[in-house]
Amino acid sequence: MAMWGGRFQEASLEEFRAFNDSLSFDYLLAQQDIACSRAWAGGLLEGGIITADEAKALDRALAELADEVTANPQLPLATSEEDIHSWVELKLGDKIGVIAKKLHTGRSRNDLVATDLRLWSRLNAQLVQQALTGAIGALLNFARLHHGAVMPGFTHLQRAQPVLVSHWALAYVEMFRRDLSRIDDALKRLDSCPLGSGALAGTGVAMDRQALAQRLGFSQAARNSLDAVSDRDYVVELSACASICLTHLSRLSEDVIFFCSGEAGFFKLGDAISSGSSLMPQKKNPDVFELLRGKTGRVLGHLVAILHILKGLPLAYNKDMQEDKQGFFDLMSTWQQCLLVLATCLPHLSVNVDRCRKAAELGYSNATDLADYLVSKGIAFRDAHELSGELVLKAAAKQVALEQLSLAELQEVSALISEDVYPALTIEAGMAKRSALGGTCPVQVGQALSAAEAWFETL
Ligand code: ARG
Repeated sequence: MAMWGGRFQEASLEEFRAFNDSLSFDYLLAQQDIACSRAWAGGLLEGGIITADEAKALDRALAELADEVTANPQLPLATSEEDIHSWVELKLGDKIGVIAKKLHTGRSRNDLVATDLRLWSRLNAQLVQQALTGAIGALLNFARLHHGAVMPGFTHLQRAQPVLVSHWALAYVEMFRRDLSRIDDALKRLDSCPLGSGALAGTGVAMDRQALAQRLGFSQAARNSLDAVSDRDYVVELSACASICLTHLSRLSEDVIFFCSGEAGFFKLGDAISSGSSLMPQKKNPDVFELLRGKTGRVLGHLVAILHILKGLPLAYNKDMQEDKQGFFDLMSTWQQCLLVLATCLPHLSVNVDRCRKAAELGYSNATDLADYLVSKGIAFRDAHELSGELVLKAAAKQVALEQLSLAELQEVSALISEDVYPALTIEAGMAKRSALGGTCPVQVGQALSAAEAWFETL
């Protein structure tokens, strides 16, 4: 039965109902709707609006309903109710008859759905934080396991300077740490309870909204009823957090896909996380990482969608806001799933240490070190850069590495170069020099790794 039939003389069109109803997706809010109803019934009792017996009957029936939903989360789908709010009332009516009709006193579906969705968001944001923590742990393990390995670092996808594989992994740890704290920030602003704001103008019953908020685990009641029923900032904020976090994950995936290519061959995918081709017998494809990259696109779309849904809305509630759910539910579960998958797959990724090192030695990645060497001999950096460039040109023409040029050939470009240039051109020397905070010097990265592991233990 509709919750609003009194002023209507005709039944709803079937097509209208199919379009208008939301139970097919908001059934996911059943537990939150029941929790809100229990807290509301408690408030009605304290305000003297219902009797102790009525409150007890409501609470017992709601607790029973919560158990039934736990046993079968899809239970609401067995009915054709308009939404999860009318479903809860219907079930209460089945259990306790007329008392159920008192529950909605002073309450609106507008403040109710706003509170349901906040509770759902808080719970799921915490689940994402757990999954993100797991992903960070897997990256730290990867960094520890491959700490000594050297690989080429790229800019513009051209070999730039050698870096440690662990330095690469720790770069993503930094990004994910920021993502964790971004969710913390979003949770702080989400911590405000709309329930008791009525349809838009505030509830008409004597309700201690602060106590109500605390019963639902919020530290405060929303300050303005118009804002409370209309605010979906937390949906936008969490969608933005997801978009940023998955953009990080997508970049990591792109790196891994390239590193696993035949052309690079730096990393190797385990059979357990690869797929083959139905036609080409030799293929071993990084589908998992491609999906992580692809799902990011879907999530970014959800962020844009919610911003568009909200941007033109006048105060207060408008039915457009029902469109806040499907994309957001998908976004939160996709986000969590992607992080869990990353944590599961990383241990199946191995590093081809020899190939990484050989690649790091190629492409004149030590040209900056040669310039730095010339600087150490008293040449200004700008001139040293020019001279090192000339030597790169010379070596490239001969198809050899810089360190394969003879001393005589090197000295043709600068008489200041002597035998001690050769040890300065090794990968080890180049990396050891980058010992300032944040650089790829093995000692520096070792400290960064230990510090990150120590931080991880505090989570
Ligand atoms: N299903 C609705 C939603 O998700 C619940 C609120 C309905 N409120 C209303 N005034 N029609 O937004």
